[in-house]
Amino acid sequence: MLERAARRRRFLKFLASSPLLACGVPEWLAGFADAADAQSDLPKRASIATPNEALNVFDFEPVARQTLPPAHFGYLATGVDDDATLRANREGFSRFQIRTRRLVDVSKVDTSTELFGTTWKTPIVLAPVAAQKAFHPDGEVAAARAAGAKGHLLILSTATTVSVEEVTAARGGPVWYQLYPTDTWRITQALVKRAETAGCPVLVLTVDLPAGRNTETQSRFEKEDTRQCSSCHQPGWQGYLRRKRMFDGLDLTGVSLFSPGLTWDFVRRLKDTTKMKLVLKGLETREDAELAAQYGVDGIIVSNHGGRAQESGRGTIECLSEVVDAVRGKMPVLVDSGFRRGTDIFKALALGAKAVCIGRPYGWGLAAFGQPGVEKVLELLTRELELMMRHAGATSLVKLTRSFVVDLRHG
Ligand code: FNR
Repeated sequence: MLERAARRRRFLKFLASSPLLACGVPEWLAGFADAADAQSDLPKRASIATPNEALNVFDFEPVARQTLPPAHFGYLATGVDDDATLRANREGFSRFQIRTRRLVDVSKVDTSTELFGTTWKTPIVLAPVAAQKAFHPDGEVAAARAAGAKGHLLILSTATTVSVEEVTAARGGPVWYQLYPTDTWRITQALVKRAETAGCPVLVLTVDLPAGRNTETQSRFEKEDTRQCSSCHQPGWQGYLRRKRMFDGLDLTGVSLFSPGLTWDFVRRLKDTTKMKLVLKGLETREDAELAAQYGVDGIIVSNHGGRAQESGRGTIECLSEVVDAVRGKMPVLVDSGFRRGTDIFKALALGAKAVCIGRPYGWGLAAFGQPGVEKVLELLTRELELMMRHAGATSLVKLTRSFVVDLRHG
């Protein structure tokens, strides 16, 4: 019996790490391997019929998989190449352990954080996720309503299927706007102007996708999809952008979202163009963080696009400290990619992040149950974070310093 369990554990771990199974479902498969690591044969991923049955955010992923057409689930799940960065994001958290303090009055914990003069009651942010109507008919409106109901900041993607005006109304307050630079300045300018007019206080420029990517997991899922997709998906960038509401009324001839010629000059030009605060999303290194400070950038999101851009080898939690140190408190540093547990969030906040963004977890919640699914995902993560703060004796984010984590590589 024990031998059979051990064999099963070895097999699951092999499957979870095998590039041959790039078409599998990385997170839940990895989850089973985690279960194997925990030396337990108990089921770790429940099958849930309502959001309230979920014990943790992973419980939403199998439901999303069952609910979505394969190609759409593949788009949500995919990493790039062998999905190594995707796994590195999760594995990175095990490099850090938590140091807890005892006999602290933790009857109240304060999770609020301040970003550009606005205080948010929680540091958990909804990351920009494109094309949300591919996951649920209500798309970005459902996510925005959930963010509004629970008091979370939301960053809206350039490739949103709902306009910034509608999303702002659904959120019940301003959202941050994420910008793909595009290769055409007149289009970029129009997007920036529209976001500014809609009341977005912050522009988030994504810089980690300059020239395409190799999403093999997505391609494998697409092959499983037997539906006729041409009514929604027309060829080329023009076909793609025509379904994205922020491009309505714009002449899209020759336009691409990728911008291989992007340099720091563009950052300067953007700063000169808008009154919005400018945050760069997708930096990972000390050198770039220092340059960001020199170029007057207002904030950084340490991100590798959830392992969807390139196989960089490092998880973002491993990149965070060098970026935080490089900016020396001159600007807020946020982080995303692979955050699934309150303990993950706790570690990032202790390492100096002001907030943590999540992508796929709320995509799973949205696909599975719409707005209530997103709300439950946010609630679970918040509850886990608060619990961890209580365990550790960290009663507020201000008090949550590096002394609460041990970096196993440096002791
Ligand atoms: C994204 N992400 C993303 N980022 C961005 O700057 N603009 C975008 O339009 C999108 N679109 C998008 C679609 C989907 C389906 C996913 C899953 C992700 C990346 C996103 O903002 C964030 O960096 C990651 O999702 C964070 O990693 P996790 O939480 O998904 O592991």
